[in-house]
Amino acid sequence: MQILRFDELDSTNAYAKRSCSLLADKTIIIAQRQSAGRGRLDRKWISQEGGLYFSLLLKPSCTDFLPNLTQLMALCVCGSLRKWGADAVLKWPNDILVNRQKICGILSEALFSPNGLQGVILGVGINIKQTDLSQAGQPAVSLKMLGLDADEENLLNDVIKRFFDNYEEVLQKGFDAIRAPYLALFPYLGKQVKIKNGAQDVTGEVQTISPEGKLVLKTPEGFIEISIGDMMV
Ligand code: BTN
Repeated sequence: MQILRFDELDSTNAYAKRSCSLLADKTIIIAQRQSAGRGRLDRKWISQEGGLYFSLLLKPSCTDFLPNLTQLMALCVCGSLRKWGADAVLKWPNDILVNRQKICGILSEALFSPNGLQGVILGVGINIKQTDLSQAGQPAVSLKMLGLDADEENLLNDVIKRFFDNYEEVLQKGFDAIRAPYLALFPYLGKQVKIKNGAQDVTGEVQTISPEGKLVLKTPEGFIEISIGDMMV
């Protein structure tokens, strides 16, 4: 595994994308700051000093379960944050919250060439030492704001170890390999939620997360399975 460290990048995901063909499988790119950090749905990810910003580039040969790798990463970060004392939970599909405030977001991107998959990039932003996240665009919190101390390096090592302990199994079996521990940290079963999914919103009661990693909602029209979207709670 190769680790590349930068004081500043535009975005670790953007770097991984433009350098993908030159980088080995399992390369980690870390930046202390990002000048153009990106979030899901074209949002900005404010990336001042104090957060942990990294992208993990993977070049898996089995591509059946790529979306589930993001869920694995979310589960691993959540586990690490709990080890450091935060009451972290998962908000499907891959956000991590403490007291309903966001502490980690994950942006995953896949790169394809005419020959197939070139790489998968799992970009992770964890709020560690920031003291002011009022610009985040949504309620957000850092470990420091929770009164918790963490060394970025140790936290990263812990996350990466958890990830690779489960990586091969998720590549082979998909979400089912991590469904039980994921559900144990998912506090929304039985709750009424709204899913924003492009132009269309869906409202319903959360029944479960399927063995494929999809959110199962009970709606007036019946049960539906959702693969992607933003859960509003
Ligand atoms: C989200 O919740 O919208 C996802 C945020 C992902 C942020 C991380 S920080 C490291 C990597 N580089 C980026 O530009 N974005 C991801």
